[in-house]
Amino acid sequence: MSSLLDLAPVIPVVVIDDAETAVPLARALVAGGLPVIEVTLRTPVAREAIARIAAEVPEATVGAGTIRTSDDISASVAAGARFLVSPGTTLSLVEALDASGVPYLPGAATVSEAMALAERGIKELKFFPAEAAGGVPYLKALGGPLPDVRFCPTGGIRADTAAAYLALPNVGCVGGTWLTPADALAAGDWSRVEKLASEAAALT
Ligand code: 3PG
Repeated sequence: MSSLLDLAPVIPVVVIDDAETAVPLARALVAGGLPVIEVTLRTPVAREAIARIAAEVPEATVGAGTIRTSDDISASVAAGARFLVSPGTTLSLVEALDASGVPYLPGAATVSEAMALAERGIKELKFFPAEAAGGVPYLKALGGPLPDVRFCPTGGIRADTAAAYLALPNVGCVGGTWLTPADALAAGDWSRVEKLASEAAALT
């Protein structure tokens, strides 16, 4: 797989409450032009959702988000996750991510966290929580001392703020939940999800 940050301008971060929605949801995102999908481990059916998408939507690259423990890693990889995303990074977690053999985006929100990961040779990071941690001006400032570190900011980013992040040289893609509103998922409104995805896919 080429760099996770370069596969699509936007990674939909999805919270799936009903495993039955996983496949039509993934199909709508792929149809809209966003094939990289992060399923957060925040619901009891998340692993089943990953497994269904991996099995039934081969055009999608499905990964697991909200990775916090080595058990999360093993369960996600067993379910078929092709990449892993963590909201933050502890030493034991980064060691487990390294050992997983699966591409991953570890979370960082400060200069020191980014430097600690870069010291290990990990230079593609999730910047979380992006808006709350300083947003576009903060990432722009990081680009001065850490020009070799690239980010996927997530957390509070919406359709109308994504482009400003994507314009930064140290941002490869952005992530967020705005593409999959809970009410659209509950209603099975896949055409709305596809439309939101196609608008996001057009961002550069
Ligand atoms: C994440 O885990 O990346 C964030 O929770 C994204 O969610 P948001 O787009 O709703 O802020």
